Amino acid sequence: MADQLLVFDTTLRDGEQSPGASMTCEEKVRIARALERLRVDVIEAGFPIASPDDFKAVKAVAEAVTESRVCGLARALTKDIDRAAEALKPARAARIHTFIATSPIHMREKLRMSPEAVLEGAVKAVRYARQFTDDVEFSAEDAGRSDPDFLCRVMEAAIAAGARTVNIPDTVGYSVPAQFGELIAMLKTRVPNADQAIFSVHCHNDLGLAVANSLAAVYHGARQVECTINGLGERAGNAALEEIVMAVRTRQDVFQCDTRIETPHIVAASRLVSTITGFAVQPNKAIVGANAFAHEAGIHQDGVIKNRETYEIMRAEDVGWTANRMVLGKHSGRNAFRARMTEIGVTLKDDAALNQAFERFKDLADKKHEIFDEDLQALVSEGALEEAVEPVRLMTLETASGTGTKPRADVRLMWNGKEHEAHAEGGGPVDAAFRAIEGVVASGATLQLYAVNAITSGTDAQGEVTVRLERQGRIVNGHGADTDIVLASAKAYLNAVNKLLIPDNRTHPQLHRGM
Ligand code: KIV
Ligand code: ZN
Repeated sequence: MADQLLVFDTTLRDGEQSPGASMTCEEKVRIARALERLRVDVIEAGFPIASPDDFKAVKAVAEAVTESRVCGLARALTKDIDRAAEALKPARAARIHTFIATSPIHMREKLRMSPEAVLEGAVKAVRYARQFTDDVEFSAEDAGRSDPDFLCRVMEAAIAAGARTVNIPDTVGYSVPAQFGELIAMLKTRVPNADQAIFSVHCHNDLGLAVANSLAAVYHGARQVECTINGLGERAGNAALEEIVMAVRTRQDVFQCDTRIETPHIVAASRLVSTITGFAVQPNKAIVGANAFAHEAGIHQDGVIKNRETYEIMRAEDVGWTANRMVLGKHSGRNAFRARMTEIGVTLKDDAALNQAFERFKDLADKKHEIFDEDLQALVSEGALEEAVEPVRLMTLETASGTGTKPRADVRLMWNGKEHEAHAEGGGPVDAAFRAIEGVVASGATLQLYAVNAITSGTDAQGEVTVRLERQGRIVNGHGADTDIVLASAKAYLNAVNKLLIPDNRTHPQLHRGM
C-alpha cells in the first residue's frame, strides 16, 4: 500500500494573509466544513493570539469540525501557545503549530537573537506546547534560506523535545525544486531522530514554484504538505492543494504515496473559497480553472471524441466538474430539493432551515427556469447572509438607466428598526445604487473591489457580486446574488457595510504579522 501523504490546509490562516482576503468567523466555519468534506487531515484555522476575532474563529472551527484535526498557530512564546491551546479546547483532535525563524537574516535582523537562543526557544516552545497536546508541529521559518547544518540541529532538538511533525517552510519562495528536494533528503538522512517525526513542507509561490517544490519534497520523503485552496496566500500565494493532490494521484508511478482527499469535492471547495474571498480563479488555472478541461483545438477535440485519454490525463468529474446539469425547476418538490442539497454537500440544520431555503429556491425558480447546482450553492450563501443579524437591510431598490438619461437609484433601507430613503445619480445604475446607500449609511469606506461573476450560463443566470470595502485598515468582503445584477450589487454592498458596522478590533492579518 502506498504511504499516506498528509494534507495540511492553511487557507484559513496563511490564505487569509492574502491582501484583501479577509473572512468572517461564519465564513471560516463554512470553509472548514468544505475542507472536512474533502477529508483534509489538518485544518490550520488561524493564529489565535493575533486578535480576539482570530481566537473566536479558531474556537468556532474547533467546535464545528469533527473529522479533521484542527490546528492553531503560535510563535515560540508561552503566551501564544496558551492562547492557541485555549482556542483549541473544543477540538476533537487538536494540533499546536509553533514556529521560530532559523535563517541568518531573520535571526539577526528580525528576531535579534543568536542561533543558540533560537534553538533554545524552539525546544522550550515545543516542550511547553506538549503540555497541552501530544500533537505538536514545529516550523523553522525561512528554512529555505537557513544554514543546512543549523537546520539539522534545530530539527533534531525539536523532535527530541516532542515535535511529531517538523515543517520546512520556504517562507519567501526562494527555493527551486531540485535543491529543495535535496534539502529534504539531506534532513531525512542526517537528522539522527528523523524517523520519529513526519517531515512537512510549506512552500510559497514567489517564483511560481510552490507546487513544484512541494512535489520535489514529497518525492524525497516529505509526508505532509501544507497548502491552500486555489493557492491563496501571502504575496504570490501558497502551494495549491488541488494541484498537489492531483499530481500525486495522477502520477502514482512517480510518487510512492497518496492522500485521502475526496477529489470530487475539489471544485466546490474552490468555488466557495473564491466566492468568500472575492479572489477569482483564472480560467487557465490547473484543475479548478474554467478551461482546465476544455479542448478548443479541432485536433484535440477529435482525439478526445475517439478516446478521451488521447488528450486527457484526468477526468473532469473526478475533481468535481459537472456539466451545468439542470437539477431542479419550478415544479420540484421539497423532497427533491432536500435530496439534491444533500448530494451537493449542503446539510440544512433543521426543518425550519429547510423551509427557508426551499422558499428562496421557489422565489428563484419563478425568475429562472432551470436551477443548477451552482444556483443551489449560491442560495445557501444567500441564506447565510439573510440569517446573519444585519443592522441595515434593503427594503426596496429602483433604478433607471438608458440612453440619454442620467442613471439614478432610489433606495429604502431599514436601519436599526427605522426606515430611511435616499436617491442618487451615478455613472451607471450600480454606481447610483452604491451612492444612494452611502447617502444613508455614510460608511466613509473606500471601494477596493467590485466583481460580478455569472454563476451559470445564459442571460437569466444569477449574477454573484463581490464588493470589497476598506476603512481605517479594516477590509471586508460583501456578497450578493440575484438574477438582477444591480440588485445583487446592492445586496453585496450592504453585506460589506454591515460587516463594517459590527465592531471589530481586528486589522487585516497582513498588518499584525510583525514577528
Ligand atoms: O511561511 C511561513 O514560514 C509560515 C510559517 C508560520 C509556517 O507561514
Ligand atoms: Zn507561510
